[in-house]
Amino acid sequence: MGYVDVAGAGFVLPDGRELFADVSFRVGEGAKVALVGPNGAGKTTLLRMVAGDIPAQSGSVARSGGLGVMRQFIGMIGDDRTLEDMALSLVAPPLREAGARLAKATEALDETEKSQIAYANALAHWGEVGGYDAEVLFDTVTVSILGKPWDEARSRVVRTLSGGEQKRFALDLLLRGGDEVLLLDEPDNFLDVPAKRWLEQRIKESNKSILFISHDRELLAQTADRVVAVEGGGAWTHPGGFTSWHEARSNRHERMEELRRRWDEEHEKLRELVFTLKNKAMFNDGLASRYQACLLYVGPDEPARRPHRQARGDLRGPGAGEPDLPVRLGDLVRRPGRDPGRERHRQVALPAPARGRRQ
Ligand SMILES: Nc1ncnc2c1ncn2[C@@H]1O[C@H](COP(=O)(O)OP(=O)(O)O)[C@@H](O)[C@H]1O
Ligand SMILES: [Mg+2]
Repeated sequence: MGYVDVAGAGFVLPDGRELFADVSFRVGEGAKVALVGPNGAGKTTLLRMVAGDIPAQSGSVARSGGLGVMRQFIGMIGDDRTLEDMALSLVAPPLREAGARLAKATEALDETEKSQIAYANALAHWGEVGGYDAEVLFDTVTVSILGKPWDEARSRVVRTLSGGEQKRFALDLLLRGGDEVLLLDEPDNFLDVPAKRWLEQRIKESNKSILFISHDRELLAQTADRVVAVEGGGAWTHPGGFTSWHEARSNRHERMEELRRRWDEEHEKLRELVFTLKNKAMFNDGLASRYQACLLYVGPDEPARRPHRQARGDLRGPGAGEPDLPVRLGDLVRRPGRDPGRERHRQVALPAPARGRRQ
């Protein structure tokens, strides 16, 4: 069985905006993991990264097992693609290439010996890479979804199918196929209620490892073993199902709020210290150097970055991986960086108030 391991993945948009950073999660063997989050949070981008369509700009993605991908646009196909084109787009690359070669050779077939040899070779290659087994699979799927054998359905233009039929065709093919890992981008879109229940059942009974994006609460509640929430420029994993996710999320946000409040308090103390040192430095050379050192940490205008309302993600679920924020006077503190929760910041000593000396 296959798995997916994402470790510290990040993506910056072409305009320089950081879409997400430091995203880590695992889809274990046979697990059903849901990616949830608001529109525009980066779920599709993350899934495309796992699929290998786009490289991880930072971090890494590891995978094992054959991979089947259903992209978000399926259900909205409006061009002249046939069902055969769509079926081939959903199978493993060697089969896809052999199918395209055979289709081309079939089209070019005429009286010439050259075209006939090319056709014979393409057909032999199709058989070698498992094309006949794939045709049996395609036939099972078209009979099940459209009530027609593959030979009758294969040339049908996909846009003559409803969005729901397009989706169900793709889903049935992937779920019946041999790929061990499936990535499904909004598989429930365009499905009516009975079709959604059908999908729930199929995902639940499948032994494949499935990472899917959905906004459908019922589907999420029925199928997800764990939930990866993409939000606030990161992601965090809830190690339970969707039913308990809301409570976990609200607890998490409360903890973030508390950390933020404590951070504000500590920050206020630091600002006061800077103010005091600044005044005293005017009359005392010793304090002038301390004041300059202090500015490394708390700038004259803007201090270290305030914690996010939602903290960066982690592998261990709510509560873990929170930024360690409170700073006390005299502590070895981190210089402000892009992300207060990460470890790689330079550290500087914040001068403690001198003992025995009046401030
Ligand atoms: N290659 C790209 N160039 C410019 N913007 C992009 C690119 N890829 C994604 N985006 C933007 O990134 C954001 C997240 O997109 P997406 O991953 O589709 O989000 P989601 O699936 O969570 O709704 C969107 O604002 C989208 O326009
Ligand atoms: Mg999307």
